[in-house]
Amino acid sequence: MAEALVIVGASYAGVQLAASARELGFDAPIVLLGDETHAPYQRPPLSKGLLTGKTAVDQLALRGPDFFTEQNIDLRLGTRATALDLAAQRVQLADGSHLDYGWLALATGARCRPLTVPGASLQGVHELRTLDDALAVHAAVSSASRGTRACVVGGGFIGLEVAAALTAAGAQVTVLEGQTRLLARSFPPAMSDYVAAAHRQRGVALELGRGVQALLANAAGHVESVLLDDGRQLACDLVVLGIGVLPNVELAEAAGIACAGGILVDACGRTGAPNVLAAGDVANMELPHGRLRLESIQAANDGARAAASVLVGQPQPLSAVPWFWSEQHDLKLQMAGIPAHGDQTVLRGDMADDRFTLFYLRDGVVVAAHSVNRPAEHMLARKLIAGRAQIPAEALADPAADLKPFSILQPRG
Ligand code: APR
Repeated sequence: MAEALVIVGASYAGVQLAASARELGFDAPIVLLGDETHAPYQRPPLSKGLLTGKTAVDQLALRGPDFFTEQNIDLRLGTRATALDLAAQRVQLADGSHLDYGWLALATGARCRPLTVPGASLQGVHELRTLDDALAVHAAVSSASRGTRACVVGGGFIGLEVAAALTAAGAQVTVLEGQTRLLARSFPPAMSDYVAAAHRQRGVALELGRGVQALLANAAGHVESVLLDDGRQLACDLVVLGIGVLPNVELAEAAGIACAGGILVDACGRTGAPNVLAAGDVANMELPHGRLRLESIQAANDGARAAASVLVGQPQPLSAVPWFWSEQHDLKLQMAGIPAHGDQTVLRGDMADDRFTLFYLRDGVVVAAHSVNRPAEHMLARKLIAGRAQIPAEALADPAADLKPFSILQPRG
C-alpha cells in the first residue's frame, strides 16, 4: 500500500480529510486510525446536551453507519500510532505492526491541559474532552442528588458550557477562573462582563482572579473541597477541569517535523516534511493575518478540505472566515473573525435583552462579530467579514438599518 493515505486521528479533521479526499476523486487506499474505541463522534454535545441527558450517545455519530465502508475508508478504531519513519514513509502502530504510506495526514488533535496542583487526580475530578470523559461527568451528576455542589475550574468555553449544563441538571455550580475576567482569550472586557453577568443571573457563582492551590480529599479518597489561593475552602462533590488544551504534537516532533505551538503547516495543510499533511486542533496554520492554531470544528473541516486538495494536485488554500459557537443556558453565542486589540467595537442591539451583535471594525472594515441569540444577523455578519465590508458605525449600531446591501457590494480592502 505504498500509495495509501494514512490518517492519524479520527475526529473532525481526520474524518473530513478522508471524506474530502474521496469527494475530490482520490482513489488510493485510505486508512483512518483512531485511538479511541468509539466510532467518530460529535463533540459539541459532550459539554452540553450529553450532560443534561437531552442528547443520547446514539445521536452522536459523526457519519452514518455505512459511510466508511461505502467510501472505501479503512477505519481502524482502538489503533494508536506510536512513531513515524519519514524516510521509509512508514507509521508504527502500538501492536508492533506498521503501515506504509504514500501520503500521511496528522489529525491528532489536542488533549486537556493538566491541572498541576496536589489532588488533581482524586476521584470526582474530571476533565472533559472525550466521550468517555463526558459519560463520566454525566454519571457523576445523575447519580448525585439535587443540590450537588460542582466546582468548575476554568472560565473558558468548556468550563462555562459545563457550568450551564450542570446548573440545568440541578447542581449548584461555582466557576473558578484564574484571570480577572471570563473568556479572556477570545473576548474583550465588555463581552466578558456580559457573559459573567448572564451566568450570575442564571445561578452560577463566579470566582474570578482566583487560583487553585490544591484539591482536598475525604477519607475515601474522593474530592471534597477546593483550596483557593486566598486560603478559603470551597466544598464540592464534583470538580470539572476546563483549563485549555495542548496540541498532540509528540508524534510529529519525534519524527523531526517542525512544530511551534502546534504542527506548522501552510494554508494548504502541508507540513515541512514531504507528503505529510496536518489539520485540525493540532495544526498551526499560516493564515492571511499570520499563524494561528484554531480550535474549532470549522477550522478542522476547512483545514482538512484544504489538505485533501493537495492530495489530488489542486491545492486550494484555506481562506474561510474563522467561526465557532457556544451554547450556555439559553444563550447561543456565535463568533466570527478574529478581533484584535484596538479594533473599534459597535454594539447592535441591547446586551440587557440577551440579543445583540458586537461588531469589530478595523480601518472602517468589518473584521469580526460576536453575536448572542442573533443567528440570522450573525450569518449576515459572516458575509460582511468575508466581503471586507465598509459600513458606517451609525448604520451598524442601528437595528433598523438594513445591512444586507453591504454584503452584496463586498468592497475589497
Ligand atoms: N485555574 C483557573 N483557571 C485557569 C487555570 C487555573 N489553573 N488555568 C487556565 N485557566 C483558565 C484560563 O484563563 C481560561 O479562561 O481556563 C480557561 C481555559 O479556556 P480555554 O483556553 O478557552 O480552554 P477550554 O475552555 O478548556 O476549551 C478548550 O475546547 O471546545 C473547545 O473552543 C474550545 O478551543 C476550546 C477548547
